[in-house]
Amino acid sequence: MAIEIQAISAIGLRGELGYRGGLPWKHPEDLKMFKVLTEGGIIIMGGRTWRSLTKILPNRIHWVLSAHQEAGGPSSDPHCDSASLCFFQSKEQIISNLLNIKKQTNVFIIGGSTIYKLFEQECSKWIVTHFESAFEADCFFPMEVLRDRPILSQSPCEWGSLKNYRAQIIHYGARHDSRSKF
Ligand SMILES: NC(=O)c1ccc[n+]([C@@H]2O[C@H](COP(=O)([O-])OP(=O)(O)OC[C@H]3O[C@@H](n4cnc5c(N)ncnc54)[C@H](OP(=O)(O)O)[C@@H]3O)[C@@H](O)[C@H]2O)c1
Repeated sequence: MAIEIQAISAIGLRGELGYRGGLPWKHPEDLKMFKVLTEGGIIIMGGRTWRSLTKILPNRIHWVLSAHQEAGGPSSDPHCDSASLCFFQSKEQIISNLLNIKKQTNVFIIGGSTIYKLFEQECSKWIVTHFESAFEADCFFPMEVLRDRPILSQSPCEWGSLKNYRAQIIHYGARHDSRSKF
């Protein structure tokens, strides 16, 4: 069964990705787009991104890479069960579980920075919201993961209520020499 692994990120003008364990901005419309894209799929994230969530994200299966058995986060959310949350202690465990999936499934690498770098080779597509503003940040996007990826589409956002946050959404494809198993 062919699985397409996509990454999804939102970044500031200087590659800003995170601040104090959360996002550097408040942008409900970008989160809405994230929800629409990822619903029904598996979302793969690092332990720190997991701990930044306040609740389990509905209609998504959370795969969390963490060196710890108890990685905190919203594990006590009443909607959190073994069908919606799974912890992995290595990238290899995640890959072997992905290779065992028998039905068509959308898989998204949702960050943060360390996870984007770790799964770079496996991502055939990268969806990036590029905000045209600078933000205070302590975690930055690894820009090298986008190097040599062709731009498949580029569109300015029409956020409606948030006119002060101009942004472009760019879809990047796979490198021509990609050696992904997926
Ligand atoms: N703007 C965006 O689109 C976006 C998207 C996602 C996240 N963020 C932000 O990015 C920041 C978090 O990013 P981050 O790079 O600091 O952290 P992260 O990638 O979310 O998580 C790092 C953690 O992942 C686990 N991990 C990483 N490599 C591992 C490996 N090989 N084996 C086992 N576990 C491994 C460890 O978890 P343990 O510590 O649990 O062992 C590690 O501390 C937050 O501020 C978040 O809000 C922004």
